[in-house]
Amino acid sequence: MIFDAVTSLTQRKKNDLLVVPFWQGKKEAELASKELGKLGSFAEEPVKLHDFKGKEGEVHVVYMTGQPEKRMALLGLGEEKKCTVEILRRSYASVVKLCQKYHLKDINVLLPKVPGLEETQVVRGISEGILMLNYTFDKLRSHSLKEHTSHLITHVHFVDASKEALKAAKKALTICKGVYLTRDLVNGNADDVTPQHLGEVAKALAKEFASIKTTVFDKKRIEQEKMGLLLAVNRGSFRDPAFIIAEYTGKPGSKDHTVLVGKGVTYDTGGLNIKPTGSMESMKYDMAGAATVLGILHAAASLGLKLNLTAVIPSTENSISATSYKPGDVYAAVNGKTVEIGNTDAEGRLILADALAYTVKNLKPTRIIDFATLTGAIEVALGNEAIGLMSNNKELQEKLIQAGDDTFERVHPLPLFPEYRDQLKSEIADIKNIGGRPGGAITAAKFLEEFVDHVPWAHFDIAGTAWCDKPKRYYPQHASGICVRMILSFLEEHVRK
Ligand code: BES
Ligand code: ZN
Ligand code: ZN
Repeated sequence: MIFDAVTSLTQRKKNDLLVVPFWQGKKEAELASKELGKLGSFAEEPVKLHDFKGKEGEVHVVYMTGQPEKRMALLGLGEEKKCTVEILRRSYASVVKLCQKYHLKDINVLLPKVPGLEETQVVRGISEGILMLNYTFDKLRSHSLKEHTSHLITHVHFVDASKEALKAAKKALTICKGVYLTRDLVNGNADDVTPQHLGEVAKALAKEFASIKTTVFDKKRIEQEKMGLLLAVNRGSFRDPAFIIAEYTGKPGSKDHTVLVGKGVTYDTGGLNIKPTGSMESMKYDMAGAATVLGILHAAASLGLKLNLTAVIPSTENSISATSYKPGDVYAAVNGKTVEIGNTDAEGRLILADALAYTVKNLKPTRIIDFATLTGAIEVALGNEAIGLMSNNKELQEKLIQAGDDTFERVHPLPLFPEYRDQLKSEIADIKNIGGRPGGAITAAKFLEEFVDHVPWAHFDIAGTAWCDKPKRYYPQHASGICVRMILSFLEEHVRK
């Protein structure tokens, strides 16, 4: 996608569509941008006849003659007083749907004047709404290139946009490229997106950016490091595990260091506690945490953020074979803590435990944030809208909630009261990896908390939000790429300062 700016209405070049924003007025739709001049006549009838009311996300196409574009889309933004950046995202996503339907690739966009919002915020909202939906995953289709990719918008020209506004659009594009990387990895086949493949992707980042250094531990090195839990989960798989460390240095002199840890289970069968039919089919997305941290790193490095950020990914399949790890057995983590396996399907917390303990011991983190499709329980608790957040640090938690509100990738906290720890007691080891049905998302986080010592830490359970069964708002079907925009906002607002 290419964004550029056209200085005025008269400077528009020939293309597929002109998008004109409207408010939903008291009586009829009202123009939300500057005067249209002659062009306004094309919008007159639908507005007068109330065929177009200007409701949020409403799109009405009229055909024009004698103009650079053959079509005009009247786009409703709802009531002027209620307009927000999020409403802009949603409304402009409707334009993408229209473009997909009619195969429109090159569009002119008139900017609305929104009370209370700066031009850069307006353009950010519009750009994000367009970019987030203007995505397709077609690698698994035959004839895919002909049938699908061609439906994407390739050019957006903002009419009358300032330099600053265009900059905001380009920044949104850079961030959304990170979102696309995340989505591509999550949508890919589990037999393609293996632990080794994730390692290759992390290495490719180091090739692309001089500011990134990537190290991938193979099985032998993982054994030397004594990551007993990652090795236990890996036992049933014919593929080796990988432990990936990708370090982005954007502020060389600074000790401030954010470590992002992502669950990289490239397929979760459940292990010997096998998942039933109906619960396993989507388990290629159990590496969404890993994909998220890679997407964030890509965006941060592309923007050249002045901060230090490391992605840590423990990765393996959770498969079944004669060599699988066994419920009832005890395995030791990298820090020596012993864990009784109550259920082999609670594997995410095991590999994360090794990654967290390794991070605390070796990477000097100022803060750790992990991302994991960790529990079905988070979907029961929060559904598919809010991302579950559990943290041992109030300040960090508040900032992340703020970033969630700013990007509308909303985050909701759950408590980590000490009493929940009782559910993880083991008779034979230091701790057990399951805590029973009550508060399943919380006890999973309590398990992780045991491995972070006193480092400020936040855990995102994205099992309910990383995957959309159906498209919604500006999220296409399947991988959502959620958390990338949110963490970029967190890093820019709260870490860089
Ligand atoms: N990968 C799953 C969690 C999950 C469930 C992700 C649904 C996405 C959608 C995780 O490894 C798991 O199986 N968790 C178990 C834990 C239980 C055995 C304590 C669960 O949630 O049922
Ligand atoms: Zn599992
Ligand atoms: Zn899992």
